[in-house]
Amino acid sequence: MTSQPLIEISNVSKEFRGGIRALNNVDLTVAKGEVVVVLGPSGSGKSTLIRCVNGLEEASSGSIRIAGEPVNGHSERSWRKVRLEVGMVFQNYALFPHLNVLRNITLAPIRAGVMRRTDAEAEARRLLKMVGLSEKETAPVSSLSGGQQQRIAICRALAMKPKAILFDEPTSALDPEMVGEVLAVMRKLAEEGITMICVTHEMGFAKSAADRIVFMDKGEVVEIAKPEEFFKSPKAERSRQFLELISRHND
Ligand SMILES: Nc1ncnc2c1ncn2[C@@H]1O[C@H](COP(=O)(O)OP(=O)(O)OP(=O)(O)O)[C@@H](O)[C@H]1O
Ligand SMILES: [Mg+2]
Repeated sequence: MTSQPLIEISNVSKEFRGGIRALNNVDLTVAKGEVVVVLGPSGSGKSTLIRCVNGLEEASSGSIRIAGEPVNGHSERSWRKVRLEVGMVFQNYALFPHLNVLRNITLAPIRAGVMRRTDAEAEARRLLKMVGLSEKETAPVSSLSGGQQQRIAICRALAMKPKAILFDEPTSALDPEMVGEVLAVMRKLAEEGITMICVTHEMGFAKSAADRIVFMDKGEVVEIAKPEEFFKSPKAERSRQFLELISRHND
């Protein structure tokens, strides 16, 4: 690990219009290659936090740095740069339904000038192989299952060669039988050392793939711990209550 964290979130707060305080003095640093899973009840600020990290939302105060470069308080140009450097995978994969699989993956890197077409296509093929979808190269995305589309969305994020990828509940819109294939790809990325912040309700993934768990409640980071500590002996009362609720739900 390098001495400088890849993602540095310092004292970040976010207030939406109407006075909703979605984030309250959040501190979190993520090292290069680290996998952080963010857990917490609905409305606790998980999505807002990762949206601030890639500039989809602007923090009201505090600072966010990616590889030492400030994300917030700058021009539209620097916002765009952040979005190029930090990939994002959402619950609804938002691919272009009228374009085939290969074009969906190569479009952004070609447009942004990250790669020439031939290089972008070679990279897309490598990524498709990695997610087990080589044979779908020319298929229109509208013909793919939800799990397949989400794997393509992951390829699309990776094609930009981002410094980190943020996941916001990437499996929660999928049919149960497709969750596993997407989590398997995420596990592979984790093993390859890609820096990831994942908001997910998949506790199995959190336990086995995370380097650290961040538990949020009411806009605050309540606890940060290694998964074995968090799941066995959570320190905060709110973490305990959350885990109890989850285990009851899964019974
Ligand atoms: N664009 C917005 N405008 C106003 N309030 C917002 C906006 N986005 C989020 N909020 C509020 O900020 C708080 C945190 O929302 P956020 O979406 O970050 O929670 P979350 O932890 O991701 O929840 P969930 O698990 O349901 O996705 C909530 O009270 C939410 O209603
Ligand atoms: Mg959310």
